[in-house]
Amino acid sequence: MLDERVLEVLARLEREDEAEGERDLPVQERSLAVEPTTGRFLFSLVAPQTACEVLELGGSRGYSTIWLGAGVRYLGGRVLSVEQDPAKAEAWRRNVADAGLADWCELVEADAFGVLGGLEDIFDVVFLDAWKGDYEALFALARRRLEPGGLVVADNVLSHVEALGAYSEARQSDPTLASVTVPLDRGLELSVVLR
Ligand SMILES: C[S@@+](CC[C@H](N)C(=O)[O-])C[C@H]1O[C@@H](n2cnc3c(N)ncnc32)[C@H](O)[C@@H]1O
Repeated sequence: MLDERVLEVLARLEREDEAEGERDLPVQERSLAVEPTTGRFLFSLVAPQTACEVLELGGSRGYSTIWLGAGVRYLGGRVLSVEQDPAKAEAWRRNVADAGLADWCELVEADAFGVLGGLEDIFDVVFLDAWKGDYEALFALARRRLEPGGLVVADNVLSHVEALGAYSEARQSDPTLASVTVPLDRGLELSVVLR
C-alpha cells in the first residue's frame, strides 16, 4: 500500500539522494537509489501477484525495497533484500521500519554471493541492482532460485551499456528465457524463465 508513511519515507530518501548527488561523495557511500519512476515500475510488477516472493540484490538504504515491500503488502508476500555495506544496512532497517514495512521486508547483511550459495527458497521476482561487474555471476546464481515463470529485473542496462550490454545480449539470445530491455530511466532488462 502506498500509504502516508511509505510516501513520506520515499520523499525523504529522494531528497537525500538528490542532496548526495550534489556533494562529491565516493560512489560506494552513495545511496544510488533507483529513479522514482523505476520504483513505481517495480511496485507495479509485484503488487498484482499473490504471495509474491521477491529477492533484492543490492538493497542500499531501502529505497527500492520500500517500493517492492509496499507492492507485496497488497496480496501477501515478502521481500528478502541483501546488502553488504554495514552503514547502508543500518539505514535500510531504519527506513523500512519508518515506512511501516518491517513485517514484509527482511534484510540479510552479507555478500550476495555467499547468501545465494546458501539459499534454498524459490522466488517469483529477483531485482538485481548490485555492482555492474557482478551481474553475470549473480544472475547465474539467482536463476537457480527461480522456476519457469520467474522474473529477473536488472537495473542500469542502458545507463551502463558498456558494462551491461553483454548482459542484455546474453539474456536475449538464451532460448530458455524471454528477455526484453525496457527503456525506462537507467534501463531495465526483464528476463522471464521459460524452462
Ligand atoms: C545501486 S546500489 C542499490 C540501490 C538500491 N537498489 C535502491 O534503489 O535503493 C548497489 C548496492 O549493492 C550493494 N552491493 C554490491 N555488491 C554487493 C554484494 N555482492 N552483496 C551485497 N550487496 C552488494 C552495494 O553496497 C550498494 O549499496
